[in-house]
This record gives sequence, structure tokens and C-alpha cells, in this order.
Amino acid sequence: MGCRTKTYLQGKYIEMKIGRNDPCWCGSQIKYKKCHEAFDEKLGILKGQGRQVPGHNMIKTPPQIEKIKESAKINMAVLDKLEEMVCEGMPTSDIDRIVYEETTRMGGIPAPLNYEGYPKSVCTSINEQVCHGIPSENVILKSGDIVNIDCSTNLNGYFSDSSRMFMIGEVSEEKRRLVEVTRECVRKGYEAIKLWGFLGDVGAAVHDHAFANGYTVVKEIGGHGVGLEFHEEPWVGYNTKPGTKMVLAPGLMFTIEPMVNMGDSKIYIDEENDWTAITEDGLPSAQWEIQVLVTENGAEMICW
Ligand code: MF3
Ligand code: CO
Repeated sequence: MGCRTKTYLQGKYIEMKIGRNDPCWCGSQIKYKKCHEAFDEKLGILKGQGRQVPGHNMIKTPPQIEKIKESAKINMAVLDKLEEMVCEGMPTSDIDRIVYEETTRMGGIPAPLNYEGYPKSVCTSINEQVCHGIPSENVILKSGDIVNIDCSTNLNGYFSDSSRMFMIGEVSEEKRRLVEVTRECVRKGYEAIKLWGFLGDVGAAVHDHAFANGYTVVKEIGGHGVGLEFHEEPWVGYNTKPGTKMVLAPGLMFTIEPMVNMGDSKIYIDEENDWTAITEDGLPSAQWEIQVLVTENGAEMICW
């Protein structure tokens, strides 16, 4: 018995057959039969039952996880710094500068910078902006604004990604509640992660909590696998049904980052920059993002 696996060798993915006594494909240096053989058999059975299962390229190994955590430390430190500094009257270009300076000072690179042509180091999305707001010296934070600041770090090729909401000055009770409930949605999604459960369980938990509070969840934009690339498979939607989508195998890493709207879920993309998503009805939207790992015990938060 053995397994066909894709191994990254000399810059290419090569399909190889592993024997039971060969070193495991995960790089643990342990024999395959004592490492991921049972894992592969389990995924093989689930696949045979018509389930979506992750490929080996989506499964993070312990050394990779350590490196990703180093990247996450920087990402969280940058967001912590912003919590001290962001205030009324600040242009969002200052947020961009702080993110660039802090990230590079700690040895990382802001992952958004030049990503698919994105021009800045961070996304700053205010009020009805759903995500991918572009920092600008012409956009000044004012009292009553709710702002999502989305930071992502590349440290030596290992990626972390998280975002938080910032409330500027006096924020209305209505908007505060949106921000709070969105944070609870992420927490509920996290708690829905069960080993050998399904990604659809996470989206269902997020959606149900938003819906119970009278909100909607954006459909077109979702979370993603992350760690060895900024954006990897799987795509993570938050309008899903329990027991559907990808099997939650240990080593799978992805973001939970729902965009929750006060009004309708419909959005459009700003034609002026081709990036920023905005609610169609002009009502506010909130988002929090965490990066999580599926483990033998359930889940671990890697970046928040
Ligand atoms: N940080 C965003 C996310 O959570 C992605 C932004 S892509 C960018 O996935 F290019 F706009 F930065
Ligand atoms: Co993300």
C-alpha cells in the first residue's frame, strides 16, 4: 500500500508514490505509516463518499506553523500599535504609513503592497465600504465612523492576515451593535470548527448569528486558505449550510472574515479604483478577521 502525493521539489510540484516505510510527505522525517497514512486513508474514504477534502498542499506542517506564527506576531503587533494611534482627524494615509513602517521595522513586508496591483500596505474600509478601502490623504477619519483595518504580513514567505474594527469618537448605538455582533459572528464561526467537521458549519454559524440579529452577510467575497501564500484554497463563504463544503482536516488553515451588513447583502465595486466593495443601499458594513488552524483538538487561533 502507498499513496500518491504531490511533493514540492526544485521549484515544481512532482507527483510521487510513497511507500509505507518512506518518509512522510509532510516533511516530519517520520515513516509514512506512522505519520499521515491513516490521515490519507480517512480522507480517501471521505472523498469516496463525495466529500470535498483538502489536498496535501493545504495541510500545514508543524515547522510551517511555527513560521506562520512568527508572521502573525508581527501582524498582531501592527494592529495593536494602530489601536494606540488611530484617532479622529487622521487621514487613512497615516494608517498606511504606520503599517508599512511597523511591519518593515519588525522584518516583515505588508502582503497587500503590490498584491495583484493593490497600491497600498493595508485596507481601510469606512462605514458603507465593505472591504478593500484604499488609504488616502484625502480620507480623514471623523467622529462616528466605523473603520475596518485589514493587515496582512509576509515574513520570509509565511503569511498572516487579520483585521479589526475601530470606532472613531462618538459612534451611534446602531453602528456599535453592528460592530459587536460581527465580532460575535467570528467567535461563533470559530467555535463551530470541529475536527473532521465541515467548513460549511463555520459559515452557517456566522450567518445564523448575523441573521438572528437582523443583519445580512456578503455573499460574493469570503475568506481563504492562508499561510504559504496570501490567498490559497479553500475559498471560505459565510452563507453555507452545516455538513457541506470542505472537510476540516488537521493542518488546514484559513481565515474567518465575514462582512456583515446592517441592510441588504448586495454590494458593488467602486469603478474609480476597481477594488473597494461598497454596500448597494449605502448602509454600514462591519468585518473582523481571524486566521485559524484546525488541530487534533479542534481549532487554534493563529492571528487576530
Ligand atoms: N486582507 C484582505 C483579506 O483579508 C485581502 C486584501 S487584498 C488587497 O483577504 F490586495 F486588497 F490587499
Ligand atoms: Co483575509
